[in-house]
Amino acid sequence: MSAPFVPIPMTSKKCMGLSGVVEVPSDKSISHRSLILGAMAIGETKISGLLEGRDVLDTAKAMQAFGATVKNLGDGNWSVHGVGVGGFSEPQGVIECGNSGTGVRLIMGAMATHEITATFTGDASLNKRPMARITDPIALFGANAYGRKGGRLPMTIVGAKHPVPVSYTVPMPSAQVKSAVMLAGLNAPGETVIIEKKATRDHTERMLMGFGAEVEVNTTSEGRIIKLRGYPDLQAQTISVPRDPSSAAFPVCAALITEGSDVLVPNIGLNPTRAGLYTTLREMGADLDYDNERFEGGEPVADLRAKFSPNMKGIEVPPERAASMIDEYPILSVVASFAEGDTVMRGVKELRVKESDRIDAMAKGLRANGMEVDEGEDWWVLHGKGMGNVLGGGLVETFLDHRIAMSFLVLGFGAENPVRIDDGGPIATSFPNFEPLMAALGANLTRNDH
Ligand code: S3P
Repeated sequence: MSAPFVPIPMTSKKCMGLSGVVEVPSDKSISHRSLILGAMAIGETKISGLLEGRDVLDTAKAMQAFGATVKNLGDGNWSVHGVGVGGFSEPQGVIECGNSGTGVRLIMGAMATHEITATFTGDASLNKRPMARITDPIALFGANAYGRKGGRLPMTIVGAKHPVPVSYTVPMPSAQVKSAVMLAGLNAPGETVIIEKKATRDHTERMLMGFGAEVEVNTTSEGRIIKLRGYPDLQAQTISVPRDPSSAAFPVCAALITEGSDVLVPNIGLNPTRAGLYTTLREMGADLDYDNERFEGGEPVADLRAKFSPNMKGIEVPPERAASMIDEYPILSVVASFAEGDTVMRGVKELRVKESDRIDAMAKGLRANGMEVDEGEDWWVLHGKGMGNVLGGGLVETFLDHRIAMSFLVLGFGAENPVRIDDGGPIATSFPNFEPLMAALGANLTRNDH
């Protein structure tokens, strides 16, 4: 297990007039995939703008352990000399994945069709998360998994000696599961077919096509059908990682709830499989513009401009939008606290198995700050109080979850009383410079004395 980090308790206070330009970090999902596909390609993949958050750095170390040569060239530039599809070697030590579900699940998929054995572990949050969603499909390829009760890490995967291709319907909306099966299918003969009933983020499909794999995607009445031909020669690429719409959500939402704010968040990837939060905020009446809309590297990109929005209304978020904003429900519920009326969120069972049980973590934290929340297994309703009526004053448990930590710090910017969180340390997994960037906008954020 990784050495536990010392908790960093923090406090945020009401502030006014957040203003300026925020260069948020690069996309976490795309950063993991750049390293993994770079490691499975032939030649040198050059990555600029890699997110140097803890999660991605753990994936970089893991790729090195499986035999790739991964170098940090400085300023977000990285080089990966890949070993080619089927070229992973057996790691000598345990693969430490820290807090990262994406890291561990994608890597388990990628190694499952190699005749090697690897043991994976993570922090206290990751070691509680379900891994059967990966070990079930990789068993179909011929891999075996030996983990703790309930399919938890630490876990050893014995890769398939003679992998066979599979046809797999992903049982839950999960880009991690879809991607793990695709990566396993790379080193299997013939065609691997993946069916996802609900579309999830499609970065793996896009990037694999960019690396030269044969990937065909068809949208049918059954859902999305992805066909992948095994044993491609993946060719090294030059990748520029766009900025993360999930990280952009924090300064954008901070601006919406603090009086007099006007914040510009440039170069945000607005791939429709990721942009659901922004559609939802606009439906709530947020003053949020997409400036300079354009395409970069095949992805829609815009500069987001968010201004104080005192008249937002609660809405029912369409459940079919859930996958495109699955990481954004915590920060949405913060904004919804400052809106008039109820915000209803349904079809969100997956929130219960993220870095924390996010419905439970948000409900507890919001109640500690004077909000009323109703919840069920796969839904929750937040009763908005309207601008100027969010009490705050609570101490929030963040359960080693970066997005819970950042969401409650943002709540404090608009609440009447300071909001304290027990630990801001995990913010470094996805948004290492959150504190200085928010402070530069004029936010009031402090680390507490122990
Ligand atoms: C991710 C997929 C999502 C998301 C996670 C990143 C990815 O997880 O919550 O932060 O990069 O594929 P699920 O696949 O569990 O939905």
